Amino acid sequence: MNKEVVVLSGAGSIGLAIARRIGTAKHIVLADYDKNNLQNAQTVLKQAGFEVSSMQFDLSRRQSVQDLVQYSQTKGDVKYVINAAGVSPSQASVEKILSVDMYGTAVFMEEFGKIISEGGSCVIISSQSGHRLGTLTQQESDLLATTDPESLINLPFVKNITDTLKAYQYSKRCNVLKVMFEANRWAKRRATINSVSPGIIITPLAADELKGPRGEGYRKMLQASPAMRAGTPDEVGDLAQFLMSEKGKFITGADILIDGGTTASYFYGDLQYLKQTH
Ligand SMILES: NC(=O)c1ccc[n+]([C@@H]2O[C@H](COP(=O)([O-])OP(=O)(O)OC[C@H]3O[C@@H](n4cnc5c(N)ncnc54)[C@H](O)[C@@H]3O)[C@@H](O)[C@H]2O)c1
Repeated sequence: MNKEVVVLSGAGSIGLAIARRIGTAKHIVLADYDKNNLQNAQTVLKQAGFEVSSMQFDLSRRQSVQDLVQYSQTKGDVKYVINAAGVSPSQASVEKILSVDMYGTAVFMEEFGKIISEGGSCVIISSQSGHRLGTLTQQESDLLATTDPESLINLPFVKNITDTLKAYQYSKRCNVLKVMFEANRWAKRRATINSVSPGIIITPLAADELKGPRGEGYRKMLQASPAMRAGTPDEVGDLAQFLMSEKGKFITGADILIDGGTTASYFYGDLQYLKQTH
């Protein structure tokens, strides 16, 4: 019998927490842009008894995603797919954020949706930030959901983005809408696909945000949020594990917020004052 394969795009903190939970007795393919991250992640997982291989790749290039699909298939049945690669508003330019977080993530869902094994499952890491964008028109939502990845960045309301936070928020909203769109295609292979939208989770990416221009606001936000703390990668890992397990089989095309209540507070609680800046 072919080995089941777990593909992790983005061998960072959140991605690894998920892979560790679902990767036992399977083959884990690690894929990341950063060679050091890849090497370190591979060593840690191997030393913990996991079967692992790795491939350097760039989520923002279709050919690279296609190469990852092909490589993963040489390892067995691609049954579990996670995209946790991404860049944040304090780490990258508008162009970079749109090409990795919006375009690349859309390509990822499209390409893996063509080959996912029967009964497989995918989790895309989006963000609470996408929930703060406010209400889009139905037409804007439909366009983000259905436009082919190559044309996404030419949509008028995307092309005009000049601010990295907006680029991130639109990208993450796009992830959630694309998941709804893709769930219909993935269902043809009896596979599920969902997104998870974390609040601030302590990782290197979050550390850059907490040190960045919006850092002070984020620290205040955490103190005043219902949970009064940041989350951990393990908490996101537990949720993703549930979504990818037999127990999560009735959930597809959905987005699950895991943010300690921050979004609820942003719209209707103590954090409403942040609406102008975050
Ligand atoms: N940490 C948080 O507070 C938080 C909150 C909400 C959403 N997220 C999202 O979670 C995801 C994972 O982030 P994390 O916090 O684990 O950060 P992380 O920095 O630990 O991991 C991100 C990984 O993505 C990789 N990456 C970046 N660009 C890439 C590219 N073009 N191709 C391939 N790999 C690439 C990086 O090398 C890194 O290993 C991101 O999409 C992020 O937007 C994080």
